[in-house]
Amino acid sequence: MGYYDEISEGYEELHKEEQLKKVALILSKIKISPKDTLLDVGCGTGLYLDMFRCNVTGADPAPKLIRKYKGKHKILLARAEELPFPDNSFDIVTSITAIQNFEDVEKGLNEIKRVGKRRFVLSILKRSPKLSLIEKLIKEIFLVNETIEEDKDVIFFCTKK
Ligand SMILES: C[S@@+](CC[C@H](N)C(=O)[O-])C[C@H]1O[C@@H](n2cnc3c(N)ncnc32)[C@H](O)[C@@H]1O
Repeated sequence: MGYYDEISEGYEELHKEEQLKKVALILSKIKISPKDTLLDVGCGTGLYLDMFRCNVTGADPAPKLIRKYKGKHKILLARAEELPFPDNSFDIVTSITAIQNFEDVEKGLNEIKRVGKRRFVLSILKRSPKLSLIEKLIKEIFLVNETIEEDKDVIFFCTKK
């Protein structure tokens, strides 16, 4: 069982408030139309998915976390490194405090780029030892239009190069 499955019972109690704050900040920065399709990679329990007012899909490899989701959107069991979608499937792809957990960050970021049409929001835990590697890869793979530092994460607002 993976770490996130192990802590699935307490995950929302531990992290809900801070994650909702990050998503509120993201929503203040991007325009989402109800017709947009959005994929959230590493969505965990999906605690903020209903805040995105469009056609949302979540993906996460921890079965116990995704079982906690009781909202109206679809969540499927998948790793960032192998996203089960054709190229250019989603108007927006987000990944919130999850990239530092990918086994293969470069592969995961390239998959995110492949399945997204144009817009990407990538939020990374600042205290992750992988932060500078992830930042370097994001700048290589995407065009970074804006970077925001909040309490716990750095958030990259990107488009396709
Ligand atoms: C800190 S949690 C964040 C969850 C959610 N985005 C949130 O903000 O509440 C990190 C998430 O990354 C997921 N994760 C771990 N390895 C992953 C991978 N290879 N691909 C996609 N997600 C992964 C975990 O299962 C976990 O749900």
